[in-house]
Amino acid sequence: MITIVVAMGKNREIGVDNQLLWHLPKDLKHFKELTSGHPIIMGRKTYESIGKPLPNRTNIVISRKNDWFEEGILIVGSIKEALKFAKKIDENVFVIGGGTIYEQTIDLADQLEITLVDATLDADTYFPKIDEKIWQKIQETCHEKDEKNQYDFCFQTFTKKTSV
Ligand SMILES: NC(=O)c1ccc[n+]([C@@H]2O[C@H](COP(=O)([O-])OP(=O)(O)OC[C@H]3O[C@@H](n4cnc5c(N)ncnc54)[C@H](OP(=O)(O)O)[C@@H]3O)[C@@H](O)[C@H]2O)c1
Repeated sequence: MITIVVAMGKNREIGVDNQLLWHLPKDLKHFKELTSGHPIIMGRKTYESIGKPLPNRTNIVISRKNDWFEEGILIVGSIKEALKFAKKIDENVFVIGGGTIYEQTIDLADQLEITLVDATLDADTYFPKIDEKIWQKIQETCHEKDEKNQYDFCFQTFTKKTSV
């Protein structure tokens, strides 16, 4: 199963200047719970934004550059290769961004784990449109902002409609 994990604002904004748009520790905890123990696939810019391999997960980074190496990550040259390696490791594979990788994998994914943040922010990177003819929301849990989490947000799970 391929699951996309993303946190997006009301306009599907996900990042600016290669950074996230918010600080939401509850979302980071949720992300860790979802992905720990499984392979995670990301674009080179997202990897650089995180700055280090995430622990307890096989970090698969997609790049067209063939002249770099970093300890603790697997660098591959295409989405296809990333999925091939990930599926050898585990049947549950997580795609964690960024924008270019979401664009290229949304049609291949079986599930979307979305954190919908109640904010509208300046951004330069967006999540693709979610086609309601294809995707259905099967679960939602909402949280109010507090002293540590700066916006209200909802965790939403989408699966593909069986008739499609
Ligand atoms: N809110 C969230 O949940 C979330 C999650 C993740 C990221 N983000 C944000 O998203 C932004 C980064 O996203 P982005 O779209 O700019 O970059 P990205 O998707 O993380 O990485 C883009 C890079 O991936 C490689 N790539 C993409 N498609 C490829 C393909 N088909 N074959 C081989 N390599 C490929 C290329 O690397 P090379 O240039 O090395 O060839 C490309 O420059 C940041 O602001 C980050 O904070 C947000």
